[in-house]
Amino acid sequence: MRNVYLVTAFVVVLAVSILGFRGTPFTKPPIDVFPEWAFPGMKRQPKPYPQGASRFFADGRADRPLPPGVVSRDPLRNDYALYEGKAADGSWLRGFPSALTVDAKLMARGKERFTIYCAPCHGAVGDGNGITKQYGMGATPTYHDPRLRDMAEGEIFNTITHGKNNMLSYADKLLPEDRWAVILYVRALQRAQTGTVSDVPADHRKELGL
Ligand code: HEC
Repeated sequence: MRNVYLVTAFVVVLAVSILGFRGTPFTKPPIDVFPEWAFPGMKRQPKPYPQGASRFFADGRADRPLPPGVVSRDPLRNDYALYEGKAADGSWLRGFPSALTVDAKLMARGKERFTIYCAPCHGAVGDGNGITKQYGMGATPTYHDPRLRDMAEGEIFNTITHGKNNMLSYADKLLPEDRWAVILYVRALQRAQTGTVSDVPADHRKELGL
Protein backbone atom coordinates (compact mmCIF):
# COMPACT_ATOMS: atom_id res chain seq x y z
CA MET A 1 0.00 0.00 0.00
CA ARG A 2 2.85 2.41 0.86
CA ASN A 3 4.26 1.83 -2.61
CA VAL A 4 1.10 3.21 -4.22
CA TYR A 5 1.69 6.57 -2.50
CA LEU A 6 5.33 6.56 -3.50
CA VAL A 7 4.61 5.69 -7.12
CA THR A 8 1.84 8.31 -7.30
CA ALA A 9 4.16 10.96 -5.86
CA PHE A 10 6.90 9.98 -8.27
CA VAL A 11 4.57 10.17 -11.27
CA VAL A 12 3.26 13.59 -10.17
CA VAL A 13 6.78 15.00 -9.76
CA LEU A 14 7.81 13.49 -13.11
CA ALA A 15 4.77 14.91 -14.91
CA VAL A 16 5.24 18.37 -13.41
CA SER A 17 8.95 18.46 -14.14
CA ILE A 18 8.49 17.36 -17.78
CA LEU A 19 5.26 19.15 -18.69
CA GLY A 20 5.53 22.12 -16.35
CA PHE A 21 8.56 23.65 -18.06
CA ARG A 22 7.35 23.34 -21.62
CA GLY A 23 7.82 26.63 -23.46
CA THR A 24 9.82 28.17 -20.62
CA PRO A 25 12.46 30.46 -22.13
CA PHE A 26 15.94 30.12 -20.71
CA THR A 27 18.31 33.06 -20.54
CA LYS A 28 21.51 31.05 -20.17
CA PRO A 29 23.02 29.00 -23.00
CA PRO A 30 22.20 25.29 -22.79
CA ILE A 31 24.68 22.96 -21.19
CA ASP A 32 27.15 21.75 -23.78
CA VAL A 33 27.87 18.06 -23.50
CA PHE A 34 30.70 18.44 -26.01
CA PRO A 35 32.08 21.91 -25.32
CA GLU A 36 33.54 23.88 -28.20
CA TRP A 37 36.95 24.39 -26.57
CA ALA A 38 37.44 20.65 -26.19
CA PHE A 39 35.90 19.61 -29.52
CA PRO A 40 36.42 22.45 -31.98
CA GLY A 41 33.90 22.37 -34.80
CA MET A 42 31.92 24.78 -36.90
CA LYS A 43 29.00 25.27 -34.51
CA ARG A 44 30.21 28.56 -33.14
CA GLN A 45 32.70 30.08 -35.51
CA PRO A 46 33.75 33.71 -35.49
CA LYS A 47 32.02 35.43 -38.39
CA PRO A 48 31.29 39.01 -39.33
CA TYR A 49 27.68 40.18 -39.19
CA PRO A 50 26.25 42.79 -41.60
CA GLN A 51 27.17 46.27 -40.37
CA GLY A 52 28.89 44.66 -37.39
CA ALA A 53 32.27 45.31 -35.84
CA SER A 54 35.40 43.31 -36.51
CA ARG A 55 38.66 43.36 -34.64
CA PHE A 56 40.36 41.75 -37.61
CA PHE A 57 40.32 44.81 -39.86
CA ALA A 58 42.22 47.98 -38.96
CA ASP A 59 39.17 50.19 -39.44
CA GLY A 60 37.09 48.00 -37.12
CA ARG A 61 34.32 47.43 -39.67
CA ALA A 62 33.07 43.99 -40.69
CA ASP A 63 31.61 45.34 -43.96
CA ARG A 64 34.41 45.90 -46.43
CA PRO A 65 34.46 48.88 -48.77
CA LEU A 66 34.58 48.02 -52.49
CA PRO A 67 38.10 47.60 -53.84
CA PRO A 68 39.19 50.44 -56.13
CA GLY A 69 38.23 50.02 -59.78
CA VAL A 70 35.08 47.95 -59.20
CA VAL A 71 32.47 48.39 -61.95
CA SER A 72 28.75 47.94 -61.33
CA ARG A 73 27.09 45.39 -63.56
CA ASP A 74 23.83 47.33 -63.67
CA PRO A 75 24.72 49.74 -66.50
CA LEU A 76 25.64 46.72 -68.62
CA ARG A 77 22.12 45.37 -68.15
CA ASN A 78 20.20 48.57 -68.71
CA ASP A 79 18.70 47.36 -71.98
CA TYR A 80 15.16 46.85 -70.67
CA ALA A 81 14.01 45.35 -73.93
CA LEU A 82 16.71 42.67 -73.94
CA TYR A 83 16.79 41.82 -70.24
CA GLU A 84 13.27 42.58 -68.98
CA GLY A 85 11.14 42.27 -72.10
CA LYS A 86 9.86 45.79 -71.59
CA ALA A 87 9.50 48.79 -73.83
CA ALA A 88 10.78 52.22 -72.74
CA ASP A 89 7.36 53.11 -71.26
CA GLY A 90 7.36 49.99 -69.07
CA SER A 91 4.78 48.04 -71.11
CA TRP A 92 5.55 44.56 -72.48
CA LEU A 93 7.71 44.78 -75.54
CA ARG A 94 6.01 43.87 -78.82
CA GLY A 95 8.45 42.48 -81.35
CA PHE A 96 12.10 41.79 -80.63
CA PRO A 97 14.79 43.90 -78.89
CA SER A 98 16.74 46.04 -81.32
CA ALA A 99 19.98 44.63 -79.90
CA LEU A 100 19.22 41.30 -81.59
CA THR A 101 19.39 40.39 -85.25
CA VAL A 102 16.26 38.44 -86.12
CA ASP A 103 17.45 36.02 -88.77
CA ALA A 104 17.48 32.34 -89.69
CA LYS A 105 20.39 31.78 -87.31
CA LEU A 106 18.37 33.03 -84.33
CA MET A 107 15.45 30.87 -85.47
CA ALA A 108 17.64 27.76 -85.68
CA ARG A 109 19.00 28.45 -82.21
CA GLY A 110 15.46 28.92 -80.92
CA LYS A 111 14.29 25.66 -82.45
CA GLU A 112 17.18 23.79 -80.85
CA ARG A 113 16.64 25.33 -77.39
CA PHE A 114 12.86 24.93 -77.63
CA THR A 115 13.23 21.24 -78.43
CA ILE A 116 15.41 20.76 -75.36
CA TYR A 117 13.63 22.91 -72.81
CA CYS A 118 10.04 23.48 -73.85
CA ALA A 119 8.88 20.63 -76.08
CA PRO A 120 8.77 18.05 -73.24
CA CYS A 121 5.74 19.91 -71.89
CA HIS A 122 4.49 22.17 -74.68
CA GLY A 123 4.93 19.59 -77.45
CA ALA A 124 6.99 19.77 -80.63
CA VAL A 125 4.30 21.85 -82.35
CA GLY A 126 3.41 23.86 -79.26
CA ASP A 127 -0.02 22.29 -78.75
CA GLY A 128 0.62 21.44 -75.09
CA ASN A 129 0.79 17.69 -75.80
CA GLY A 130 4.36 17.05 -74.72
CA ILE A 131 5.61 13.78 -73.25
CA THR A 132 4.94 15.02 -69.70
CA LYS A 133 1.21 14.84 -70.40
CA GLN A 134 1.41 11.05 -70.40
CA TYR A 135 2.85 11.27 -66.91
CA GLY A 136 0.05 13.33 -65.48
CA MET A 137 1.00 16.92 -66.25
CA GLY A 138 -2.23 17.95 -67.87
CA ALA A 139 -2.37 21.72 -67.55
CA THR A 140 0.17 22.75 -70.19
CA PRO A 141 -1.54 25.28 -72.45
CA THR A 142 -1.38 25.26 -76.22
CA TYR A 143 0.33 28.21 -77.91
CA HIS A 144 -2.42 28.20 -80.52
CA ASP A 145 -4.85 29.89 -78.21
CA PRO A 146 -5.78 33.44 -79.26
CA ARG A 147 -4.66 34.77 -75.89
CA LEU A 148 -1.13 33.40 -76.33
CA ARG A 149 -1.08 34.31 -80.01
CA ASP A 150 -1.78 37.94 -79.11
CA MET A 151 0.49 37.96 -76.07
CA ALA A 152 3.35 40.46 -76.37
CA GLU A 153 6.78 38.91 -76.93
CA GLY A 154 7.95 40.69 -73.78
CA GLU A 155 5.34 38.93 -71.65
CA ILE A 156 6.42 35.53 -72.99
CA PHE A 157 9.99 36.57 -72.14
CA ASN A 158 8.79 37.29 -68.63
CA THR A 159 7.15 33.85 -68.34
CA ILE A 160 10.35 32.13 -69.45
CA THR A 161 12.42 34.26 -67.07
CA HIS A 162 10.25 33.95 -63.97
CA GLY A 163 8.04 30.93 -64.70
CA LYS A 164 4.33 30.75 -64.04
CA ASN A 165 2.58 28.39 -61.57
CA ASN A 166 3.61 24.85 -62.58
CA MET A 167 6.11 26.11 -65.13
CA LEU A 168 9.40 26.91 -63.45
CA SER A 169 11.82 29.66 -64.38
CA TYR A 170 14.21 28.97 -67.24
CA ALA A 171 16.46 31.92 -66.38
CA ASP A 172 19.20 29.57 -65.19
CA LYS A 173 19.07 27.49 -68.37
CA LEU A 174 18.53 30.04 -71.11
CA LEU A 175 20.55 33.22 -71.53
CA PRO A 176 18.38 36.26 -72.33
CA GLU A 177 19.43 36.02 -75.99
CA ASP A 178 18.39 32.36 -76.07
CA ARG A 179 15.02 33.20 -74.51
CA TRP A 180 14.37 35.57 -77.38
CA ALA A 181 15.47 32.89 -79.85
CA VAL A 182 12.94 30.50 -78.29
CA ILE A 183 10.22 33.17 -78.52
CA LEU A 184 11.01 33.62 -82.20
CA TYR A 185 10.51 29.88 -82.71
CA VAL A 186 7.28 29.94 -80.67
CA ARG A 187 6.04 32.65 -83.04
CA ALA A 188 6.97 30.43 -86.00
CA LEU A 189 5.02 27.52 -84.49
CA GLN A 190 2.00 29.76 -83.98
CA ARG A 191 2.25 31.13 -87.51
CA ALA A 192 2.54 27.59 -88.88
CA GLN A 193 -0.88 26.69 -87.48
CA THR A 194 -2.65 29.69 -88.96
CA GLY A 195 -1.45 29.38 -92.56
CA THR A 196 -3.90 29.87 -95.42
CA VAL A 197 -3.73 29.23 -99.14
CA SER A 198 -2.54 32.79 -99.69
CA ASP A 199 0.69 31.90 -97.83
CA VAL A 200 1.53 29.41 -100.59
CA PRO A 201 3.39 31.00 -103.52
CA ALA A 202 1.05 31.25 -106.52
CA ASP A 203 3.09 28.87 -108.69
CA HIS A 204 2.90 26.16 -106.02
CA ARG A 205 -0.83 26.32 -105.37
CA LYS A 206 -1.55 23.89 -108.19
CA GLU A 207 0.35 21.24 -106.23
CA LEU A 208 -2.34 21.49 -103.57
CA GLY A 209 -4.99 20.80 -106.17
CA LEU A 210 -6.46 24.28 -105.87
C1 HEC B 1 7.48 21.34 -66.96
C2 HEC B 1 6.62 21.63 -68.07
C3 HEC B 1 6.87 22.91 -68.82
C4 HEC B 1 8.01 23.27 -69.50
C5 HEC B 1 9.29 22.47 -69.67
C6 HEC B 1 7.72 24.56 -70.09
N1 HEC B 1 6.47 24.97 -69.75
FE1 HEC B 1 5.55 26.65 -70.37
N2 HEC B 1 3.96 26.21 -69.25
C7 HEC B 1 3.77 25.07 -68.51
C8 HEC B 1 2.53 25.14 -67.79
C9 HEC B 1 1.96 24.08 -66.88
C10 HEC B 1 1.96 26.40 -68.10
C11 HEC B 1 0.67 26.97 -67.57
C12 HEC B 1 1.00 27.93 -66.46
C13 HEC B 1 -0.27 28.54 -65.91
O1 HEC B 1 -0.78 29.47 -66.53
O2 HEC B 1 -0.70 28.06 -64.86
C14 HEC B 1 2.86 27.03 -69.04
C15 HEC B 1 2.63 28.24 -69.64
C16 HEC B 1 3.39 28.80 -70.62
C17 HEC B 1 3.07 30.01 -71.35
C18 HEC B 1 1.82 30.83 -71.17
C19 HEC B 1 2.00 31.78 -70.04
C20 HEC B 1 0.76 32.58 -69.74
O3 HEC B 1 0.93 33.72 -69.34
O4 HEC B 1 -0.35 32.04 -69.87
C21 HEC B 1 4.10 30.24 -72.22
C22 HEC B 1 4.21 31.38 -73.21
C23 HEC B 1 5.07 29.19 -72.02
N3 HEC B 1 4.62 28.33 -71.04
C24 HEC B 1 6.26 29.09 -72.71
C25 HEC B 1 7.24 28.15 -72.42
C26 HEC B 1 8.55 28.13 -73.03
C27 HEC B 1 9.02 29.10 -74.09
C28 HEC B 1 9.21 27.08 -72.49
C29 HEC B 1 10.64 26.65 -72.77
C30 HEC B 1 11.65 27.59 -72.38
C31 HEC B 1 8.32 26.41 -71.56
N4 HEC B 1 7.14 27.09 -71.54
C32 HEC B 1 8.63 25.28 -70.84
C33 HEC B 1 4.64 24.00 -68.45
C34 HEC B 1 5.91 23.98 -68.98
